[in-house]
Amino acid sequence: MRIYQEKDYNAMSRRAAAVIAAQVVSKPDCVLGLATGSSPVGTYKQLIQWHEQGDLSFAEVCSVNLDEYYGLAPDHDQSYRYFMQTNLFDHVDIVPENTNVPSGLAKDPAEECARYEQVVRELGYADLQLLGMGRNGHIGFNEPCDCFPLATHLVDLTESTIEANARFFASANDVPRQALTMGIGTIMKARKILVVVSGEDKAEAVWKAFRGPIVPEVPASILQLHPDVTLVGDVSALSRLTEDHE
Ligand code: GLP
Repeated sequence: MRIYQEKDYNAMSRRAAAVIAAQVVSKPDCVLGLATGSSPVGTYKQLIQWHEQGDLSFAEVCSVNLDEYYGLAPDHDQSYRYFMQTNLFDHVDIVPENTNVPSGLAKDPAEECARYEQVVRELGYADLQLLGMGRNGHIGFNEPCDCFPLATHLVDLTESTIEANARFFASANDVPRQALTMGIGTIMKARKILVVVSGEDKAEAVWKAFRGPIVPEVPASILQLHPDVTLVGDVSALSRLTEDHE
């Protein structure tokens, strides 16, 4: 595993964007697995800047997002489709038809999960999957549980995730209780994984994920088994990992 400890959020974002840009430059028609949340916002800003400078094109890229809230329309301002449009897609030259996010409005979520899994499979899975991490060690919306779910599925969000994400909604009551998410198996099939983490409140989850036992109670711990992981974090998020080496 490659670890980049950067001084702050901006430096973390530039480093993560460089890893993504390297992927796009070396394989312009790559499949990018994308993530939402506050962690990758700065990364997307940097990618947009390089695109505007004429240094980076997404014209041949296909994207697959990790997850979507179940019940939110694509134009709901807290849906992950809306997040992707406003934080990246609307500002770069990616072809709209080449962007994929699970549908939060599907009548039959099981059918939508199967359809989405097939879309990702037919694209050959992600060349590079970007991941944030929940404070409870979740990736995508794979919450701590007693097994590692393989394929895209519907999940019940945990109270801690609802609480953590309530800051984006008018109140915790407005946070959807369920989500559609790629499974751990879908994520692990990506050729490369890039994890971005910032802030003190992630330090314990990062330590458990990369130094603790590989257990489904810490979904991100499965990444220890992936052959190509790059972890980019700021000093506070990586503080416990680096203490190990002192
Ligand atoms: C949500 C997303 C995850 C994300 C996590 C952390 O639950 N489903 O993909 O990694 O939040 O978010 P943040 O980066 O805002 O801490």
